[in-house]
Order: sequence, then structure tokens, then C-alpha cells
Amino acid sequence: MKSFLNVQDIGDLRQALAEAQEIKANRYKYETLGKNKTLLMVFFNNSLRTRLSTQKAALNLGMNVIVLDVNAGAWKLETERGVIMDGDKSEHLLEAIPVMGSYCDVIGIRSFAGLTNREYDYAETVYNQFVQYSGKPVFAMETATVHPLQAFADLITIEENRKTALPKVVLTWAPHPRSLPQAVPNSFAQWMLAADVDFVITHPEGYELDPAFTAGATIEYDQKKAFEGADFIYAKNWSCPGVTNPADYGKILHDYHQMMHWTVDSEHMSWTNNAHFMHCLPVRRNMIVTDDVIEDPTSLVIPEAANREISATVVLKRILQSL
Ligand code: CP
Repeated sequence: MKSFLNVQDIGDLRQALAEAQEIKANRYKYETLGKNKTLLMVFFNNSLRTRLSTQKAALNLGMNVIVLDVNAGAWKLETERGVIMDGDKSEHLLEAIPVMGSYCDVIGIRSFAGLTNREYDYAETVYNQFVQYSGKPVFAMETATVHPLQAFADLITIEENRKTALPKVVLTWAPHPRSLPQAVPNSFAQWMLAADVDFVITHPEGYELDPAFTAGATIEYDQKKAFEGADFIYAKNWSCPGVTNPADYGKILHDYHQMMHWTVDSEHMSWTNNAHFMHCLPVRRNMIVTDDVIEDPTSLVIPEAANREISATVVLKRILQSL
């Protein structure tokens, strides 16, 4: 595997889930695979789970790990070609990438959407520059439009907790005071549509996700109807994807104070089939979800975060086996 961005990159999902199960039973089974191989993790944005779980995954496989926080201690990087570099950015990504590639065997990239230029974000400009100029396999640790390591961990968690052959999984928008990217819901939709689940998305009008990720999903604007009979509720905020009106890309369309009826509380959960609550974390309590729902014993937020180590180990194992 030379690039890990979309669900197609992992191939057969049943095989990937079987590998996840194998790794979970013995996470050190491939501890010599990464001997004398170095993972470089490049962060353009903050992280807790991705940083720790991916580093742990690399250690499980016997790799060396280097971490670069681009905004803390490195030269500020220009990412757009053609810019006259007379500002505060001292180095261009087009030199920095091959230099980084010369120090490692595999590169993980975290580069959030800027949420101002839809075309630039949805072209995955930063990620694709790493693919093109590093000469090394590259994987997404949440990029402008996708977060596949999270979606894979979410799928593993659903697989471990499903009670029926075709569980109903609902992705629900929830309010947030700040403008957030669409990467998590995009990937969650993409992976759920490839899995054996009945998948429904619910959100206020105007927040339609890009059909490149959601084609085939049921969209239900009535949150209560969407929740009825659900086995898993996956909450997440996202800003306007700009599908119907590109000028609204990255915007919050309504004052969040007016949208608090979308917060997942115990009444919302009472509409479901005793659903498990899920969220990728970090989560703003009593905005996205109430304290009692996230603290309920059926909540899966901690197991799904723990499964990030498993999804990252499977992906890094696949990459190492392809070197
Ligand atoms: N879910 C997730 O990716 O968490 P971090 O942003 O802390 O890495």
C-alpha cells in the first residue's frame, strides 16, 4: 500500500477486519516487520489520539518514529506554489517534502482543511504533494477531507459491538461553536457505505456532505425519525460543505444557540434501539452530547479511541509489507 486515504485503499473490508482482530489478539505479532524502518509523523494541526495511537502502532511493529510539529519548532512552511515568499514563511513544502522523505521510510500526514478554499481542500493539495514529492508511502492521519484511520477504528468498534447482521448506524450532525472540517463525517460515511450496515445521515438542511462520500446513503432531515430503531449513534459537528452553495463552504449556517435541540441527550437516545453512542473525540460535552449519554456504560467513545491503535497497526503493517 503506497497511499492510505480512502476506503478503497484498504481493499476487502472483511479481510481488513480479520487482520484487526488478529492484531488485537496479539498486537506484537509483527514486532520485527518494522526493524530499521522509520516512520515520520508530520503534524500541521494538534492531536492527542492520532499522535499517541499511531506512534504506539509503529512501536508494535518495531519501527523507529520521528514526529515533526510543523507549527512548533520547524520553519513555517508555504504550501501554495507560485506565491512570492516575502512573508513569515521561510521554507516551501516543495523543498521540505523531499528532505523529510530522505530521513524516513513511511510518512503520516495530519493537515486539516483551511475551510476557506473548497477547491484547494477537496483536491487534498497538501497530502498529494507529499505523495508526489516524498518518494515514500504516505498515509492520512486526518487530512483536509478524510480521516480513514478513525473510520477504520469506528468500523472495528461497530463490528465488536453489533448485535444484528445489519445494524442501523446513524451519523448525526450536532452543534458546535466553531467551524469544523468535514473529514470525519466524510470518511465515516465512505466506510459505512462499504460495510454491512444500514446507514442513515441526519443533519439540518444546508449541511449536505459531498456526494463523493455519501452516494447511496439515506439522508433524513428529521433527526427523530433518523434515530428510530438505531443501534449506533455517531455524533459529529461539521461546517457547511458548500455542496449546494460553494460560497457557504466552511461556514456555520445557524447560531449554535438556536441548534441545541440537535445535541444528543437521553431523550434522543430513548428514540433508538438502545443504541451505543459514538464520537471520534475530542468532544465538547453538552454541545455535541450530554454528560449522562457520553458517560453511560453503553457509550463506546473510549473503546473506539483505543481501536485507533489497532487500525493504525493494520495500516502500517500493510505499508511495511509493500516496501
Ligand atoms: N479523533 C482524533 O483524531 O483525535 P485527535 O485529533 O486527538 O488525534
